[in-house]
Amino acid sequence: MSECYRLNLTRRPRRMRRTASLRALACETEVLPKHLIQPVFVIEGEGAPEPIESMPGIFRLSIADLIRECRELVTLGISGVALFPKLDASLKSDDGREALNPETLVLRAIRAIKAEVPEITVIADLALDPYTVHGHDGLWDAAAQDLANDATVEVLAEMAVLAAEAGVDIVAPSDMMDGRVAAIRAALDGNDFEKTAIMAYSAKFASAYYGPFRDAVGSASAAGTHSLDKRTYQLNPANRREALTEITLDEDEGADILMVKPAGPYLDIIREVREETELPLAAYQVSGEYAQIMAAAERGWLDLERCRDESLLAIRRAGADMILTYFAKAFAAGS
Ligand code: PBG
Repeated sequence: MSECYRLNLTRRPRRMRRTASLRALACETEVLPKHLIQPVFVIEGEGAPEPIESMPGIFRLSIADLIRECRELVTLGISGVALFPKLDASLKSDDGREALNPETLVLRAIRAIKAEVPEITVIADLALDPYTVHGHDGLWDAAAQDLANDATVEVLAEMAVLAAEAGVDIVAPSDMMDGRVAAIRAALDGNDFEKTAIMAYSAKFASAYYGPFRDAVGSASAAGTHSLDKRTYQLNPANRREALTEITLDEDEGADILMVKPAGPYLDIIREVREETELPLAAYQVSGEYAQIMAAAERGWLDLERCRDESLLAIRRAGADMILTYFAKAFAAGS
C-alpha cells in the first residue's frame, strides 16, 4: 500500500457481521408476534369474506369469521385486534347516531370475541367516521365547515362506556378532538369501568396514507374521494413540536398507551415520543403503508416478506412497543 494512504484497522465493525450467530448476538431489535395488533374489518350478516381491492389479502369479515380469525391470531401469538365496523349505507346519518345503538355491529363483535376468544386483547376505535354520511370523525358543523369539538367529545365518551359494557379491553379514540381522553376517562370511571384502558391516537397526522382504509370502511364514499380533508383536527405532517404537545396532553389526561400514526413516514416522531414519555407507545402502520408494499411486491419490484419484516423492524427500532399492522397475521405465520 502506498505510504500516503493507510487504512486505520484497529476497529473492524464487520467482525461482528461475519456469521449468523455473531449477527444474532449483536442484534439490537426484535419484532415478535406478541408486539403486533391486527386491525380487522367487520360486516353485518353471514356472508363470505369481502376482499378490499386496495388492500390485497385483507377482508371484511362477518362476526362468525371474525371469531375464527381471532382464534388463529391467538394461535400465532398475536396479542390483539383493533375492530373497525363497515356499516350498511342505510345506517349512516349526519350525526352518526348508530354509534350509540347498544346493538350496533361493533358492540356485538366485541361481545362475541370476548365470549369465544377471551385471551385476545380487543381494541375498539372511538370515532364517528364509520357512522356518518360525510365520513368525518365527529359531528359536522356545516356553518362552521368544521367538527363541533365539545359535542363530539360527549358522543365519544358515551361510545367508550358502551364498548366497556360490551367487554372491550382498550378503547382507542382516533378522532383528535381536544380534551377527549380526559372526558373518556371520567366517563369510564364514573361507570365503574376503571379497568378499561385508553390507547390514545395522540399524534395522528392528516395523512394521504389512509386512503385504502377509507375504502375498507366506506368513510369517504359520500365525498366520493379518498382525500377527505381532516386538516382542522388531524396534525399537520410538517409539525413535530405540535405532535409532542398532543402527546403531553394525552398523557396528562390519563391515556394508558400513546400512539403515533402513520408509522413508517413518521419514525422521527416515534423516536422523539419514546424519549419523551415512559408510557407504552404504539405505532400504526396504516393502510397506505401496507398497500404500497403489497402493490410493489405484486409487480415483482420488491420482495414482500423482506420489505414487510424490514418495515416492522424499523418501527420497533424507532421505539414503538407495539405495532398495529395489517401484516400482523402474515408476519406471525411466516416467522
Ligand atoms: C378514523 C380512522 C382512520 C384510520 C383509523 N381510524 C382514517 C381516517 O382518519 O380517516 C386509518 C387507518 C389506516 O389507514 O389503516 N377514525
